[in-house]
Amino acid sequence: MSVTFHIEPGGVLRGRIRVPGDKSISHRSIMLASIAEGVTRISGFLEGEDAIATMNAFRALGVCIDGPEGGNVTVHGVGRHGLQRPGTALDCGNAGTAMRLLAGLLAGQAFDCELTGDESLRERPMKRIADPLNRMGALIETAEGGRPPLRILGGRRLTGIDYAMPMASAQVKSALLLAGLYAEGRTCVTEPAPTRDHTERMLDAFGCRVDKNRSTVCVRGGATLHASAIEVPADISSAAFFLVGAAIAPGSDLTLEHVGINPTRTGVIEILRQMGADLEVGNQRMAGGEPVADIRVRGNRLRGVEVPPELVPLAIDEFPAIFIAAANAEGTTLVTGAQELRVKESDRIQVMADGLQALGARAEPTSDGMRVTGGPYHGGQVSGQGDHRVAMAFAVAGLRATTAITVTDCANVATSFPGFVDLARSAGLTITAT
Ligand code: S3P
Repeated sequence: MSVTFHIEPGGVLRGRIRVPGDKSISHRSIMLASIAEGVTRISGFLEGEDAIATMNAFRALGVCIDGPEGGNVTVHGVGRHGLQRPGTALDCGNAGTAMRLLAGLLAGQAFDCELTGDESLRERPMKRIADPLNRMGALIETAEGGRPPLRILGGRRLTGIDYAMPMASAQVKSALLLAGLYAEGRTCVTEPAPTRDHTERMLDAFGCRVDKNRSTVCVRGGATLHASAIEVPADISSAAFFLVGAAIAPGSDLTLEHVGINPTRTGVIEILRQMGADLEVGNQRMAGGEPVADIRVRGNRLRGVEVPPELVPLAIDEFPAIFIAAANAEGTTLVTGAQELRVKESDRIQVMADGLQALGARAEPTSDGMRVTGGPYHGGQVSGQGDHRVAMAFAVAGLRATTAITVTDCANVATSFPGFVDLARSAGLTITAT
């Protein structure tokens, strides 16, 4: 099914909205609840295709899961050794998180299995997890070029390793920590820069000890996880489109409710603030082991900045939206150290540069980022390239375009943000989908 967005130019974003649940936390909630002892109730679960793919994978692994219904899910945990051999290959759809974390969790099982995914996922690099997992004693075979599908052979004895990650990746870190639960001894992962720590926080909530010392995090094999209630906050990565939309459209005054503000995810807030955005983070509280807040954003004049490279991993999924903010800022914005953007759901450097150029904006891609100079841009047709975040970024760009924007290939918005079009309309974006 193909989906095209049509956005009329202009408008402002106003009111109070809550975006769907956090994708990273939703994936992890199903995974950890499945291998825990007891019944876990999850609220605020993301009913998007990616998290549903994880849920269906665990059903295929023999876990009884009720829901999702209104964001509520009940997982009847089978314990650390209770998963069963699936009848077919597990389809991770578009979800890199599902595939990489599942590979870690399945590397130490007694049975063989295969992980596959859609056309985009089958292009994504998997050696980054297969190599260190194989070093732990797993036997994971990739297809040519280190791509999916992955064949994971069961009945392997895993041993903990010390692994210094060559790239800042929470998926790689999490895959190793999950494999570490099944390994003999200690598994330690050192990251070159801080990445999202939802796995560590949730393991802790399930009663599994996680040791953290500066940039190194360790788990011990053999721990038992105990069911725990999980409240999933609204996804800051989904909120980002509205933060940027309201920030670039003068007259906007929008509050995003109950947004997860885990410090490993708030790079977008910091970058927008450096650009001069008017953001207020209020009503801060804890929900299910994660900090949340209501974020109010008002339209303002933005200025170009050099994005500090240390903020890049903390905003890695928000660059499609940040590039749109940059196109609306006075002066030049420079993003460096963001080469990981080239291996996301699309090559987000190339695809965003192509789309911005098609609208007449000044965007020059580099090997590890982009230089964007703000100024007026027109409408026209751009492709979402099957990448949910690219599609949503160009949708909010419509707020400041001089003519209408059409974004083709938007069906994958459903992977992370079901209801995007209706919610965006309710906030003031003149958008329709066909
Ligand atoms: C994620 C980690 C990030 C991010 C992805 C979700 C996670 O990927 O881009 O959308 O849930 O751990 P990398 O680990 O590849 O940086």
